[in-house]
Amino acid sequence: MTYNFDEQIDRSNTHTVKYDLRKAYFGKEDVLPMWVADMDFRTPGFVTDAVKKRAEHEIYGYTIRPDEFQKAIISWLDKRHGWQVMKNWIGYSPGAVPAVTMALLANTQPGDKVIVQPPVYFPFFGAVKDNGRQLVYNQLKNENGHYRIDFEDMKAKIDKRTRMLILCNPHNPVGRSWTKEELKQLSEICIENDLFLISDDLHNDLILPGNKYYPVVQHFPKMAERTITVMAPSKTFNLAGLTTSFVVIPDEKLKNRYDQMLENYHLYIGNLFGTEALIAAYRHGEDWLEQLLEYLQANVDYMDEFLQTYIPQIKMVKPEATYLAWLDCSGLGLNDEGLRKFMIHKAGLGFSHGSTFGPGGEQFQRVNFACPRSTVEMAMEKLRKAI
Ligand SMILES: Cc1ncc(COP(=O)(O)O)c(C=O)c1O
Repeated sequence: MTYNFDEQIDRSNTHTVKYDLRKAYFGKEDVLPMWVADMDFRTPGFVTDAVKKRAEHEIYGYTIRPDEFQKAIISWLDKRHGWQVMKNWIGYSPGAVPAVTMALLANTQPGDKVIVQPPVYFPFFGAVKDNGRQLVYNQLKNENGHYRIDFEDMKAKIDKRTRMLILCNPHNPVGRSWTKEELKQLSEICIENDLFLISDDLHNDLILPGNKYYPVVQHFPKMAERTITVMAPSKTFNLAGLTTSFVVIPDEKLKNRYDQMLENYHLYIGNLFGTEALIAAYRHGEDWLEQLLEYLQANVDYMDEFLQTYIPQIKMVKPEATYLAWLDCSGLGLNDEGLRKFMIHKAGLGFSHGSTFGPGGEQFQRVNFACPRSTVEMAMEKLRKAI
């Protein structure tokens, strides 16, 4: 079956962050919204069918997760990534950020230092700071458009108060899917310094052709006793509004501490539609996902060629994963605020502003290209005209 990713679907007035919060976020309605990370593609039919079937029952009371929930996750992780996960390693979360926060609270004390790697998904900053932990930046190195982890800086910043590192694998916004070698070095540093690792692997299924995703614990079993891996079908199948994520924690003590947090906050009940959607997505989603990845890669190729041909001042950091492009706009010669205003007011584009992702994000824009090609074309034309 061939799926149609070209279809333009009107999402306005559906209480949608990406469309209905434009005024609040950009200060005006008429920007082409390519910011918050969900897709403008229809959620696949095998998922909507499962949700509709459940909706037809018409009683939406408290719910439990059936064995099928864990079974679907286990078979998906094995099929897609060759990672064999045990049922009792799987824990629930209503979202990836709540999972990161609960894992952080369960394994650190106020005042402890937690390392993050900016430019990175910025809610990590709040998860650390707003809970009284100290935020430590281990900024990624940008070497001619290729991002690397600065291991020397990481080692230099670790001291007795450092307890944890939050990894984003694959990395939002720079699009790296970290190699086995990079993860090996990172794991060794965690072990040597007795650090816990939260690995936010939310984009792990969105691996663009020619690249590979390596779950840390699968490849470095010694990390099992200190790693919490956060996952979900939400990015892959466009289900973020169904608030259903999960964690993989092989270590029993770590898992118990996580589950206790879930219990403390009374977050274990879950979303009944999210449960049905996860099961359907992981049971039937492979063919759809393969076609999605091809389509996303073609969007990347289109943007890259367009920028090189017409707007060489802007350079795209080619993503290995995710549906987020990271554009280096330093060639435009604008200051940070000038760049923000230029994109919104001159070009009419609702991109994510680079500096919100922390140090190293200045002069960049993040573009969500999980949308029909015609939207990408429109965005590129708007940019060319504005310049
Ligand atoms: C790396 C990463 N983690 C977490 C999230 C948010 O996940 P959730 O909505 O499940 O909290 C996002 C969303 O963009 C993300 O990119």
